[in-house]
Amino acid sequence: MAYAPFDLKGKVALVTGGNRGIGLGMVEALAQAGADVVIWGSSAEHNAKAEAKLTTYGVRVLAQQVNVADEAAVVAAMAEAAVAMGRIDTVIANAGIGGGAPSFSEFGTEQYRRVLSVNLDGVFFTFREACKHMVERARGGDPGGSLIGIASLAAIEGAARNEAYAATKGAVISMMKSVAVEHARYGVRANAILPGWIATDMTAGAQESKAFAEKVIPRVPARRWGEPADFGGIAVYLASDASSYHSGDTFVIDGAYSIF
Ligand code: NAI
Repeated sequence: MAYAPFDLKGKVALVTGGNRGIGLGMVEALAQAGADVVIWGSSAEHNAKAEAKLTTYGVRVLAQQVNVADEAAVVAAMAEAAVAMGRIDTVIANAGIGGGAPSFSEFGTEQYRRVLSVNLDGVFFTFREACKHMVERARGGDPGGSLIGIASLAAIEGAARNEAYAATKGAVISMMKSVAVEHARYGVRANAILPGWIATDMTAGAQESKAFAEKVIPRVPARRWGEPADFGGIAVYLASDASSYHSGDTFVIDGAYSIF
């Protein structure tokens, strides 16, 4: 028999912020590898567009309009997804927003709380509800599961004027490690991905900036912006049985930017 651990048929993957950008890049690969997929997004319009595209891969697709900062919404949507799809094997907490300030001294409290509510509360609620489902299933004799947090290079490099964002991304890594240790006994793994500079709506301003094109992108050894599709491989690996002993790790996907 051929070696086929990357075949995701029979597995269900849920990706928050899966309707565009990096999330959609991952969910497209997961669907093409055979997984049934659930996407959460804040925009019904983006959800519908992504759902139509994902359906062409011949897998079951569920799109839910969920604000990950809203605890009750996350609790309800995770339960609804588990019933609708029968099970959830992989949960990728990817939804996130940017939000800096002209300087740290001028960083508004409201902005700070807004970034924390999506990037940190959102990951906490998403992971917690995913763990409830996976632990219950493991206790019923069906262990396993994969949790993935999308952090950022901002977690490990100094991101000037982005203190709130950086703090949430560092926290995603710390939370992931706690979750990984606590849930290993249930066969549940947890890992984090740290993207570099990726061309999505989030970085639209930087993509249009002449200074950025002249000063930052030439410092990326891969000599290009990252694309959402660059995250397909790692998503499939972490959702698959190929990574069944790989937990508590961080994956930097940045075209070698951070080591140059
Ligand atoms: P994007 O702006 O293209 O997509 C963000 C996604 O998150 C969308 O699907 C949106 O619907 C969803 N979202 C935003 N707020 C939400 C909320 N409250 N509830 C539910 N969904 C919500 O952004 P991108 O670039 O694809 O970012 C994805 C993740 O990658 C984020 O966590 C971001 O911080 C991280 N990241 C991105 C980098 C980049 O260069 N683009 C670099 C490092 C990390």
